[in-house]
Amino acid sequence: MPEFVKVMKTYDILPGEIKSFDVEGEVIAICHINGNFYAIKDECSHMAYPLSDGSLDGEIITCAWHGAKFNVKTGDVLSMPAVVPIETYQLKIEGENVYVLIEL
Ligand code: FES
Repeated sequence: MPEFVKVMKTYDILPGEIKSFDVEGEVIAICHINGNFYAIKDECSHMAYPLSDGSLDGEIITCAWHGAKFNVKTGDVLSMPAVVPIETYQLKIEGENVYVLIEL
């Protein structure tokens, strides 16, 4: 059954940054975009390299390895060489704590 698991504090990532966390065995990248936070699986759907090595431009993340682009809100693929969407996770903020909904 999915549960919200505390991952970090809101001040742990600056706006425009991405950080990777091991959450109960799931490697999740959290992206900070103008005060909003989005959680994605930290694995590119092209060749499984970490997306947290990439860069953010608004809500678009670009994989550092071969340049695929994804929307971090929806997981949609925006650019080759990836063709499969990435997994996104529901996230909630309580006070300064950030939680991600994962299957335990
Ligand atoms: S591993 Fe991300 S584009 Fe190839």
